[in-house]
Amino acid sequence: MPECAPSASVSPKRKVQNVHYVHSKKIGALRRHSFGRPRSQTVALPIADPTAFIRTNTRPQTVPHGPEIALWLADEVTPLWRLTEEELGELGLPPPFWAFAWAGGQALARWLLDHPEEVAGRRVLDFAAGSGLVGIAAMKAGAAHVLCCDIDPFCRAAVALNAEANGVSLAFTDADLLKASPPDVDVICAGDVCYEQPMADRVLSWLAQARMKGTRVLIGDPHRTYFPRDGLEFLAEYRVPTTRELEDLEIKRTSVWALP
Ligand SMILES: C[S@@+](CC[C@H](N)C(=O)[O-])C[C@H]1O[C@@H](n2cnc3c(N)ncnc32)[C@H](O)[C@@H]1O
Repeated sequence: MPECAPSASVSPKRKVQNVHYVHSKKIGALRRHSFGRPRSQTVALPIADPTAFIRTNTRPQTVPHGPEIALWLADEVTPLWRLTEEELGELGLPPPFWAFAWAGGQALARWLLDHPEEVAGRRVLDFAAGSGLVGIAAMKAGAAHVLCCDIDPFCRAAVALNAEANGVSLAFTDADLLKASPPDVDVICAGDVCYEQPMADRVLSWLAQARMKGTRVLIGDPHRTYFPRDGLEFLAEYRVPTTRELEDLEIKRTSVWALP
């Protein structure tokens, strides 16, 4: 039996069958359960109003390691994850990454806020933006333009709400940029993208292509298993507050790196 059953109040239109929610609260386990689960036979529904969904299920909170920034964030993973699957009428979705400020993103945002010369006056891509945290930090640090990209269907609305909350302007695309050559920007920022082996391999080789053509590449990572430190330029290390809800620790040692 599933440890967390779906609520009984799901509307018939959105009702999904054979739900197997996990009770686990850590990203490692989230990763195993989310990416290992088969997608259901149900047809994905368009999201009626993602902005209203985010406003209803998250609340504005200050980013622990970047108190200059406030984001619409959730307090718990599992209930929101269940709701997103109900909203989309689909199972096996990745967790709602956009509703949390991940350790890698927090570290990279801190680096940009404290080192505005990295992005001031430059065109920046926040790759795998989630909430848009890193993109917001880049704009606050004086970037000329920031494009956020993420393939999660809630991210466009999350990034727009968070940009508005912080008084910055962010462009957004949900295109999978990994399927093409890296775009023509000055700086690519990638916060917490090495939580899963296939994704880490794809992203790192794509970032290496960007570096080959002269783009500055900055990565924030809390020493996750699939993040290879060898050959990277170390820039800073932080002790980033997170929660046992997301990680196995309340403080994550997290570093910022550049591709040399
Ligand atoms: C752990 S979250 C990090 C979010 C944010 N950078 C932060 O640090 O808070 C990883 C993000 O990668 C996104 N992602 C996964 N594959 C992607 C792809 N091919 N292109 C863009 N984003 C992707 C997910 O949707 C998720 O939002």
